[in-house]
Amino acid sequence: MYTINTATINDVETIRQLAEATWWPTYSPILEKEQIRYMLDLLYSAEEIEKQITTNEQTFLLLKEGDSAVAFAAYSAYKGEPAAYKLHKLYCLPQTQGKGYGRILIDNVSNIAANAGATKLLLNVNRHNNALAFYQKMGFGIAREEDIAIGPYWMNDYILQKPLPLS
Ligand SMILES: CC(C)(COP(=O)(O)OP(=O)(O)OC[C@H]1O[C@@H](n2cnc3c(N)ncnc32)[C@H](O)[C@@H]1OP(=O)(O)O)[C@@H](O)C(=O)NCCC(=O)NCCS
Repeated sequence: MYTINTATINDVETIRQLAEATWWPTYSPILEKEQIRYMLDLLYSAEEIEKQITTNEQTFLLLKEGDSAVAFAAYSAYKGEPAAYKLHKLYCLPQTQGKGYGRILIDNVSNIAANAGATKLLLNVNRHNNALAFYQKMGFGIAREEDIAIGPYWMNDYILQKPLPLS
């Protein structure tokens, strides 16, 4: 049995720990460990997550099995395009992957975005991340490639998009 709630600043440490536990197995096969450490410190410091939550820069959804948080997503309206939302983050603990939580979180974010009038959901995924096939299964298509400098490193991404039904 699972529950999904919008995260508050009381959940910052939980989100940080979920990211640490998920990022290493996800990105070790495709990125240098220095880059993973750099990106985790930049994107998932307690200060950064707290700022995103308190300023509503990103809204975090936390999925729990009983009392245990096992997955999270983060989304916002997309500043670059009207009527679009962006899924910034989607991570399920390795031991809970394949249980349907990724799909459930995407469905939740899609419904929230469609109810807010968005007609499109966008996200970035590393071009070598095998989550690409998962997103394609969830109805996303490749819009374009994007190489983004992050400190001394690069993120070699696809931008994916999925049309949202009119609600
Ligand atoms: C990618 C991720 C979010 C998917 O969530 P999940 O809960 O494991 O996936 P689900 O159980 O919801 O899978 C839904 C469907 O996609 C399929 N699927 C899941 N991962 C897949 C993959 N890597 N490749 C192909 N299909 C995949 C499932 O088999 C399932 O198919 P079905 O409907 O035919 O049964 C999750 O595995 C994860 O957190 N991975 C590591 C972190 C990551 O890469 N996040 C994305 C960063 S952009």
